[in-house]
Amino acid sequence: MPYETLLTSLENGIFTITINRPDKLNALNKSVIEELSAAVDEVYQNKEIKCAVLTGAGPKAFVAGADITEFLSLDANGGAALAAKGQDMVFNTIENCPKPIVAAINGFALGGGCELAMSCHFRLASENAKFGQPEVNLGLIPGYGGTQRLTQLVGKGKAMELMMTAHMIDANEAKLLGLVNHVTTADTLLNQTKNILEIIMTKGPYAVGKVIAAVNAYYDNSKNGFAEEIKLFGDCFGTDEMKEGVAAFMEKRKPDFS
Ligand code: COA
Repeated sequence: MPYETLLTSLENGIFTITINRPDKLNALNKSVIEELSAAVDEVYQNKEIKCAVLTGAGPKAFVAGADITEFLSLDANGGAALAAKGQDMVFNTIENCPKPIVAAINGFALGGGCELAMSCHFRLASENAKFGQPEVNLGLIPGYGGTQRLTQLVGKGKAMELMMTAHMIDANEAKLLGLVNHVTTADTLLNQTKNILEIIMTKGPYAVGKVIAAVNAYYDNSKNGFAEEIKLFGDCFGTDEMKEGVAAFMEKRKPDFS
């Protein structure tokens, strides 16, 4: 599907979504949010898509935040509606996607950009990446889940400090804090991200989806994560995928989940 603010490509099961407003450091305006929602919908619906990479166009930014130029016209209700719509249409939908969606962070990941990266299942960053939640500079707080997901990923004290000071941190500090899993050179970022996804694609896709659901249950106050794990573990039994995985082990061969 053609987009105006995104570039997409599908190769060997990996769908790459590139936010493409490099002259505005890929800031998330209304169109980007709507198109990201449609692209994530494609990940859910298209059987050819096994997993996805989310990245930004150009050498400078993953996403430098929500588009600040759209803020001035909003009142309290408008601000709340913007956050609610974005969380619902994009951020929570990415987080709950049963197919892996991984962020390849190639530069600034600020405000909504850091929040977008955090909504993905995990993150790789290039050496030049910079992270921050600078909303207090604008008299705002994060609205796309940042107060929650940053706290989950780096802990309360560091999350408080980062959000109250608006300080930016580099990729290596982000790795030390657990915000990103790997730091790469700019040239190898996409390939290294895809290498990890290729390993995941050799595993049972149904089970991979249940890993995502079970881990997410830990952060969902309406669920008991242990009870959810028991249910999801049970759901895996009797699937063709589980029969193939177990048969392959017994027959001392690699499983074929295709
Ligand atoms: N919203 C809208 N436009 C943005 C933007 C955002 N979040 N971030 C960057 N841009 C635009 C700039 O206005 C500029 O546009 P222009 O060329 O038409 O003037 C263009 O992107 C390039 O940014 P610029 O500021 O010139 O680049 P820089 O290298 O000097 O600085 C940043 C980079 C990221 C430090 C700086 O752009 C910045 O602080 N951005 C805002 C970050 C932020 O507060 N994000 C949270 C929003 S809630």
